[in-house]
Amino acid sequence: MKFPVLRVPPLQDLPAPAGLATLASFRHESRPAAQVGIEGSRRTPCDGLGGYREPEPGLRLSTRPAHGVRGLPFDAMSPAPVYKFGKIPKHVAIIMDGNGRWAKAKSMIRVQGHRAGAESVRDVVKAAGEFGVKYLTLYAFSVENWKRPKGEVSTLMGLLRNFLRDELPELMKNNVRLQAIGRLSDLPENVRDQLHECIRATRENTGLILILALSYSGRVEIIEAVHSIMREIKLGHLDSAQIDEQMFNHHLYTRYYPDPDLLIRTSGEMRLSNFLLWQLSYTEIYVTPTLWPDFRRQHFAEALIDYGKRQRRFGLL
Ligand code: FPP
Repeated sequence: MKFPVLRVPPLQDLPAPAGLATLASFRHESRPAAQVGIEGSRRTPCDGLGGYREPEPGLRLSTRPAHGVRGLPFDAMSPAPVYKFGKIPKHVAIIMDGNGRWAKAKSMIRVQGHRAGAESVRDVVKAAGEFGVKYLTLYAFSVENWKRPKGEVSTLMGLLRNFLRDELPELMKNNVRLQAIGRLSDLPENVRDQLHECIRATRENTGLILILALSYSGRVEIIEAVHSIMREIKLGHLDSAQIDEQMFNHHLYTRYYPDPDLLIRTSGEMRLSNFLLWQLSYTEIYVTPTLWPDFRRQHFAEALIDYGKRQRRFGLL
């Protein structure tokens, strides 16, 4: 028996479903190694940024004197560090953890940790674009986070709304396209409106794709995918024999994005916390003890340098 082929419309024609905004450009290019300066004016051309220069074979860290940030390479004669990456992950996902502990260690209240964490978001988003990362997914709010004290939840929602409002000019300047995954209908209306405004305003941007995971749960995402497949079967658009990994993938919030190459988790915790459970199957994991509010571009660069040294095997020899 011949089954109908699952048709996926061109990305730009897709409506934005509840949990997902559409994405116009989706490329599966492999990203070569890059050497990237931190300040825009000192940036060495790399993939997607107008040209590419091959680094010396086998050389990942600069041999020039290094000081400042935990042995990271940089040109001692220049005010801006220059990082050398073995290869750049196309998609980086981050579990931003440790805001509460950061605040506690400073005798502050938890929400001050979240405020400081929003600064790290700004810094890392800018760095990711400059380093040539194509997709950056940030776990900003989980389905479980709704169970936190009311005051903390409303502060987080306020921070999110302010971030979306205040950061729009910066996202435009840096050519960042915003997307979101999760149960977006759970968000307060003013946050949702700001989110959709930001997604709409940045839709033509061609640089970094920043994906905010909001009211997100990996298990809920998988269950929603199962429901979506069952609906298609009931409607006669699909036969159960057609269910395979690729088809299942088409029913996830993340259907337009490649799986993450690198997962970063801050604050030293060794768990996935219900984040991208399907998508992280072959992702490289980097856990740092640094608390999220302290995590800035140099720590992000350190994670990318570590990734560049890894041999990915995808279950093969
Ligand atoms: C985990 O730290 C962090 C969160 C639940 C929220 C992350 C939010 C931000 C970084 C700020 C706002 C985000 C954006 C996108 C502007 P935790 O509170 O669980 O820390 P703890 O484990 O030390 O208590």
